[in-house]
Amino acid sequence: MFRKITMAAAALTITAALAAGPVLAKPIVIKFSHVVAENTPKGQMANKFKELIAEKLGDKVVVEVYPNSQLFGDNKVLEAMLLGDVQMAAPSLSKFERYTKKVALYDLPFLFEDITAVDKFQSSKEGQDMLNAMKKKGLIGLGYLHNGMKQLSSSQPLKVPADAAGLKFRIMSSDVLAAQFQAVDATPLKKPFSEVFTLLQTKAIDGQENTWSNIYSKKFFEVQPYITESNHGLLDYMVVTSTEFWMDLSDDIRAEVKKALDEAIIFGNQVAAEKAKSDKQKIIDSKRSQIIELTREERAQWVEVMKPVWSKFEHEIGKELIDAAYNSNK
Ligand code: LMR
Repeated sequence: MFRKITMAAAALTITAALAAGPVLAKPIVIKFSHVVAENTPKGQMANKFKELIAEKLGDKVVVEVYPNSQLFGDNKVLEAMLLGDVQMAAPSLSKFERYTKKVALYDLPFLFEDITAVDKFQSSKEGQDMLNAMKKKGLIGLGYLHNGMKQLSSSQPLKVPADAAGLKFRIMSSDVLAAQFQAVDATPLKKPFSEVFTLLQTKAIDGQENTWSNIYSKKFFEVQPYITESNHGLLDYMVVTSTEFWMDLSDDIRAEVKKALDEAIIFGNQVAAEKAKSDKQKIIDSKRSQIIELTREERAQWVEVMKPVWSKFEHEIGKELIDAAYNSNK
């Protein structure tokens, strides 16, 4: 009797399950967090990546993009990634100091003459090896993305290094960048990107360094009357994920995700090249900020005072790596 009842109950359960239809596997969610506006090289790259994944992987993988420090600020995102709260981000290369000293290479002032040299170095063995520099810490670099060369914005005209003496500059969290401003007797302050506009607006700081696209999209030019076209350093990104998340993906999905990312990076780099020109032009047209072009002699003065920073960090970064990067200018 008891056996009959259990068999009937089991039959009912099976019938109900069949009526409910097949159980669909939930898609893998990739939360992509970043700090810049959507209309920037990184913002556009992340949106393109989301679009490509939707096209190629349909309902197997979903990318959610969180711009403007909505989800995590730049000083928190890597910790969050290691905890599994976010799966991808592309912090600037100045923001990996807590995980590796090698990547600080990219912050050395006047190291790269232009983006062509950066591309040459990044595609070399040394440049590619750096993507794996944080593997032991649980992070994998999936590729580099460009933004562009940094300019100096300020409340006062900066022509020669002496003009920066005594001023306070916001910097990203990098000791190399701190040393760069100390070299001109200025005071560097490490602050998250999300705070820069307010710090400038309230005059808590005098200046900052950034690319044309960040100065434009975050409206720094509206609160900074002078921008010196110094091209003194590079702002580039590393797209990172956690080793755990990456290795948990099936081989097929991992390969497809990487392919979509590579394609999105190519697109983002095109946006970067365009914006370095068009956003600069928009700032000029706004007449809110005066652009200061340096003469050859004035620029040489900045190089002379800032370049000694290289030797200060040589032991941490490695002389061979610095030489390899510098030689990519040839
Ligand atoms: C900054 O903090 O100034 C930039 O790194 C922001 C960004 O990600 O471009």
